[in-house]
Amino acid sequence: MGNTFVRVGIIGMGIGRQNGKAIASNPRGRVVGLCDIVEERMHDFQKDLLEPTRKYTDYRELLRAKEIDAVFVGTPNQLHIPMAIDAIKAGKHVLCTKPLGHDLKLAKKLVEAAESSGLVNMMSLSCRFSAESKHLESLARKRVFGDLYYAKARSIRRSGIPAWNLGFIQKGGGAFRDMGVHCLDAAWALLGFPKPLSVLGVAGARFGPRGQGYWEFKAPPRRTWKQFAADDYAGGFIRFENNIGMQVESFWASHQPEEFQIEIFGSEAGAKMYPLTIYRTENGSAVDSTVKIQQKPDSAWDNVAGHFIDCILDGTKCQAPLRHGYRVQQMMEALLESGKTGKEVRLG
Ligand SMILES: NC(=O)c1ccc[n+]([C@@H]2O[C@H](COP(=O)([O-])OP(=O)(O)OC[C@H]3O[C@@H](n4cnc5c(N)ncnc54)[C@H](O)[C@@H]3O)[C@@H](O)[C@H]2O)c1
Repeated sequence: MGNTFVRVGIIGMGIGRQNGKAIASNPRGRVVGLCDIVEERMHDFQKDLLEPTRKYTDYRELLRAKEIDAVFVGTPNQLHIPMAIDAIKAGKHVLCTKPLGHDLKLAKKLVEAAESSGLVNMMSLSCRFSAESKHLESLARKRVFGDLYYAKARSIRRSGIPAWNLGFIQKGGGAFRDMGVHCLDAAWALLGFPKPLSVLGVAGARFGPRGQGYWEFKAPPRRTWKQFAADDYAGGFIRFENNIGMQVESFWASHQPEEFQIEIFGSEAGAKMYPLTIYRTENGSAVDSTVKIQQKPDSAWDNVAGHFIDCILDGTKCQAPLRHGYRVQQMMEALLESGKTGKEVRLG
């Protein structure tokens, strides 16, 4: 494209703020447009930015702007796919928050449109791009773990149902699409993206519809919990090719301690993510080493932004294309479906 920097429009002023700040702080990134249906949220975010931006309340208008090369989509789950499809049609590179969406047919359509457009298309994945994940991934690629054959991934909150955005608790949202997606995606990446064969799971809502388990034990009005149509827990097992397995679980609320954890099992070594620990056997003895990574608190967002910009300006191969979001979505939807039917779901 001949440019020395990428001009980005941010759609959605929630998680768009973290992504936007990281893009703006990259020497080759510029945030030039903001979009939200709530104007104050744009003006509030503007205070964090050094450069002025144009503000839009209709994302279609932002997509028409010639001075915008790329967009970040950070609206409620149900809007990701239609907005990303429109962005591709408008010729903009797309960075999309997780999950890719909630409708597999539409997600496939988006991936196909994005891939045939030749534009950069990428998932913004704060866990996969965290310093811990990156460290484990580099060891896995150097075969420090030998053959990785099993993973345990979990994301557990005590009382963390997000009620501020109704999209989270209505059909299309849910604990698994909100949080399970992160640990599932990062564990799948560490395993080397094996092909999923089948999924068996349970899912349901034990807290939300009773007005319990909301963010920091603060129950919203009854009309909010009446709209609860999502899972507040889901867990199950994914079987991959080559006899590889993953146990994955996600709880928005539970009577258990808060935890986000990924554990991987390899033929030569294993690891867990928090605290980052490597388990090996040396001369017949167990050797456990913890790794302390020096990092800025927001380094995952910087890594996401940096990679997106490198893909656009340098033609770097994207490590987290929308196709990965689609694959993860397939596994998630299969788990949720298995929870409904009580049957194992086979994936082609
Ligand atoms: N770590 C992560 O990667 C991470 C963390 C949090 C949220 N998310 C994802 O981000 C998405 C949004 O979650 P959030 O926590 O930021 O929610 P949020 O409610 O804080 O922010 C969403 C914003 O989108 C705006 N919006 C809604 N409809 C819009 C429209 N038609 N056009 C423009 N703006 C619109 C809302 O006004 C709001 O400001 C979800 O899909 C969630 O899964 C990702």
